[in-house]
Amino acid sequence: MKQLSVEHLLGIKYLNKDDIDLIFETANHFKEVINRPIKKVPSLRDITIANLFFENSTRTKLSFELAEKRLSSDIINFSASQSSLKKGETLIDTVNNILAMKVDIVVMRHPNVGAGVFLSKHIDAKIINAGDGTHEHPTQALLDSYSIKEKLGSIKGKKIVIVGDVLHSRVALSNIFALKLQGAEVKVCGPTTLIPKHIESLGVKVETNIQKALEWCDVANVLRVQHERMDVKYFPSTREYTQLFGINNEILDNLGKKITIMHPGPINRGVEITSEVADSNQSIILNQVENGVAVRMAVIYLLAQQIKR
Ligand code: NCD
Repeated sequence: MKQLSVEHLLGIKYLNKDDIDLIFETANHFKEVINRPIKKVPSLRDITIANLFFENSTRTKLSFELAEKRLSSDIINFSASQSSLKKGETLIDTVNNILAMKVDIVVMRHPNVGAGVFLSKHIDAKIINAGDGTHEHPTQALLDSYSIKEKLGSIKGKKIVIVGDVLHSRVALSNIFALKLQGAEVKVCGPTTLIPKHIESLGVKVETNIQKALEWCDVANVLRVQHERMDVKYFPSTREYTQLFGINNEILDNLGKKITIMHPGPINRGVEITSEVADSNQSIILNQVENGVAVRMAVIYLLAQQIKR
């Protein structure tokens, strides 16, 4: 059986193209499973997974939980807001206590960059990074690429623009790595204050004019403005941001072609994207959510195959 080249899923940075192909092949199978009347397989009945969320999440947490349940694994859930972290416990102590309960795989979201890498060096379990600060969010990028491939047939040679708060977005960085690995052309578009310096070194181009960016692309992946990560003001007002970078029907109708619209959620309706666009037939936002479960099942299944049982 084919195996991943990595022992953990810490970031797209550590994967190769064969890993992505293997994850997608496996996800195709699971997508068929989750559309059956009985949406479950017994594959991971002997595996226990801990979902450790040290930062808020709705869809990623639900998606992982559902993926784990569809694979018949046992699950324990932990949210930082209800935990002993508030009492001063360290990350390693919290996790070691959880592992003493014989956990095989840890899915972790954490506000600190590199939290997953750190943990993987200290504990004996498979780690899946569900978002580490502003760094990486590998399963989101995998489900995004999977959704583009499903819609357009391939990734190679496709033109994708990532719009908005690239600076604070782990979705953007993981998407850039994943798309480049699969041979896409990538541009980023947003206020210059929200585009990281030297981003071109990742092989992407910067376009500050939204009209031009949309005219160029096949797909626009629209990011949320991450107010909670902003310590200073990066643009004068939300209204101005919407005027300059918001995606609405008017701008899309003037393109003379139909591009595909994506968003990782949660959406700020009326800020980075209007409701009409988010809910239109150009948008694949809900397909992304559905594919998220199949892709996460694939990642968990493939890592579990490496565990000696
Ligand atoms: C993203 C995240 O948490 O990084 N959301 C998600 O996982 N679906 C993007 C965001 O918060 O804007």
